[in-house]
Amino acid sequence: MSPDQSPAQVTPGVGGSSAAARAVVVGILAAMAGLMFGLDTGVIAGALGFIGDEFHASARMQEWIVSSMMGAAALGSIMAGRISFRFGRRRALLGASLLFLAGALVCALAQSITMLIVGRIMLGIAVGIAAFAAPLYISEVTLEAVRGAMVSFYQLMVTLGIFLAYMTDSLLSYGGHWRWMLGLMAVPAALFCAGCLFLPDSPRWLMMRGEKSRASQVMRYLRADPVEADAEISDIAKELRKPGGNGFVLFRTDANFRRSVLLGVALQIMQQLTGINVLMYYAPKIFQAAQFGVSASTWATALIGLINMAATGFAIAFIDRWGRRPLLILSCAVMTFAMLAAGGLMAAGGDSTSHDMGMVGALLLFVAGFAIGAGPLVWTLCSEIQPLRGRDFGIACSTFTNWSANWLISNVFLSVLATLGEARTFWVFAAMNGLFIVITLAYVPETRGVSLEEIEARLMAGRRLRDLGR
Ligand code: BGC
Repeated sequence: MSPDQSPAQVTPGVGGSSAAARAVVVGILAAMAGLMFGLDTGVIAGALGFIGDEFHASARMQEWIVSSMMGAAALGSIMAGRISFRFGRRRALLGASLLFLAGALVCALAQSITMLIVGRIMLGIAVGIAAFAAPLYISEVTLEAVRGAMVSFYQLMVTLGIFLAYMTDSLLSYGGHWRWMLGLMAVPAALFCAGCLFLPDSPRWLMMRGEKSRASQVMRYLRADPVEADAEISDIAKELRKPGGNGFVLFRTDANFRRSVLLGVALQIMQQLTGINVLMYYAPKIFQAAQFGVSASTWATALIGLINMAATGFAIAFIDRWGRRPLLILSCAVMTFAMLAAGGLMAAGGDSTSHDMGMVGALLLFVAGFAIGAGPLVWTLCSEIQPLRGRDFGIACSTFTNWSANWLISNVFLSVLATLGEARTFWVFAAMNGLFIVITLAYVPETRGVSLEEIEARLMAGRRLRDLGR
């Protein structure tokens, strides 16, 4: 089967109960993009020390090796908007998978720092495209009843990727095998690439291209009830008939669309201001500062990865039952409390075992708080709130913001720490998490069980952001 010939074209859509299962499998395949995202962002932590030794890389150079990927991911997410609008979400994912594969091989075979950075830039672009296209694609092919769980499954794969990367790094670190650490990523990349060949095009993208009969065929392939599939197609057609341009033109001319873009951008800024990546990138340093030995720090870091993954599983179970707003508020409240406690322990000082355990407990609680809400929900909401004609543009803006903020915060963190001290830095993050609660209460809609077209109709009719779901 060629990449242009998706299963939905090969097997005419017939509905039936297996159709719902097909929609889930399709969502899972697309979520493999999340696995690659997690693996490639997580793997560098353990490899960096060995790379530094082999190439005699200065601390500044090592920072470049790490941050080149985030910069490239920001770039990739901007490119992804155009790529997925022109060529479709499926081809965007396929392109990303090829870049993941090539990037892993370039990194593993690198003979110089420059070559390594080139490989990291390739991986970064792939991550940016994947982080853009996967939640968008998943939200467009799945039914509203499970949409939250399916997009959150993507986030679960991100956390699984980070955890697996920590584990492989730990195992391979005994022999200093950094090339294997980076090269092994080619294996899941090849699997992801093969999986992409089986994905159908998004019916919503096909409709935007004016290919109604193919869109109906795919929709019937993915929905248990053909009547429901046809109704969904006519809802999409109705939204598309409304006047107005696409993407940036819509942004310039339509104040309602500007609101959803700004909400997506704000959500991604707030997700990064929770402080999650400070923990993801600097956990071993934080633990060592709390007098942990090197191997205890490695294990404590792996535990963070594990909790991140387990708590994301909790979110999947409840996101479509409790709804987005309650989970997000609970998540931010837990993070605020955990950051206040971490700051308090730092301010109190001391090196007793109970102090150290308290610190680990606070950080684990923080990660669990992030994973039950701010992690999966921000991606879910960003993929739900944009109108179809502006979805590529809107999600490109929010994904770009995610990566730029990620890059900025992880770059300034060490300087902020040096200026404010550890306790105050944690308290600043506590305040940001408190602010996230206020923003959620004021602006975040409850999108549980609401179709993308209903959300769009309310947004474009000027309904308050908070009320887009009702
Ligand atoms: C965030 C990443 C973070 C990851 C941790 C994602 O939702 O966007 O910045 O590293 O969660 O699980």
